[in-house]
Amino acid sequence: MSKILAIHASPRGERSHSRRLSEVFLSAWQARNPHAQLTRREVGRALIPPVNEAFVAAAFYPEPDARPLSMQADLAFSDELVGELLDHDLLVISTPMHNFSVPSGLKAWIDQIVRLGLTFNHTLDNGIAQYEPLVRGKKALIITSRGGFGFGPGGELEAMNHADPLLRTALGFIGITDVTVVAAEGEESEARTFEVSAAEAEQRLLALAREF
Ligand SMILES: Cc1cc2nc3c(=O)[nH]c(=O)nc-3n(C[C@H](O)[C@H](O)[C@H](O)COP(=O)(O)O)c2cc1C
Repeated sequence: MSKILAIHASPRGERSHSRRLSEVFLSAWQARNPHAQLTRREVGRALIPPVNEAFVAAAFYPEPDARPLSMQADLAFSDELVGELLDHDLLVISTPMHNFSVPSGLKAWIDQIVRLGLTFNHTLDNGIAQYEPLVRGKKALIITSRGGFGFGPGGELEAMNHADPLLRTALGFIGITDVTVVAAEGEESEARTFEVSAAEAEQRLLALAREF
């Protein structure tokens, strides 16, 4: 993979564990790929606009090639985010779990990049909606930090984890099905619990930096 788009979703800066873990991966990957491109997109500490009525009208305008200029303007930022996504091979998303899902900035980013005609298509088959992903050849790595413990596969709280399934489903919907999740858990437990989990996450990230 030669081009990484790193999406950072924590509202926290230096104190963010998901950001710190993502830097473990990114710096190891950059050391091995010194000429490769790394682009960063801030969605946790910069406002990603939520979908509004103008966006919906423009995004689902029946004749996309004949959109009025005002509608083109309503989609300009979304177009930029989609272009950025399409221009990279590996998507690295660093995110905390917030209320069993992802922070609102990351959800807003998803809403901006799931775009009819650009990242997915919609047709009717005997009147039933069919969806076709339009994004090809990309992978995603989700690097996440959670206060609780047991949200991973087979964990006691797995059913309450709406973050990983949301990201896997939305990315899969547009065609990014190769998704790896690396999590550090237990930040709100005694320090040792999180230390062990974060250290395991770091080892996995260092191994992945050699693979990607
Ligand atoms: C608003 C808010 C909601 C949170 N909701 C959850 C949650 O549902 N489950 C959980 O395990 N931790 C939750 N946490 C804890 C964070 O996931 C945890 O502190 C994580 O390490 C933060 O990542 P960061 O350091 O990258 O910001 C929440 C924290 C905040 C601030």
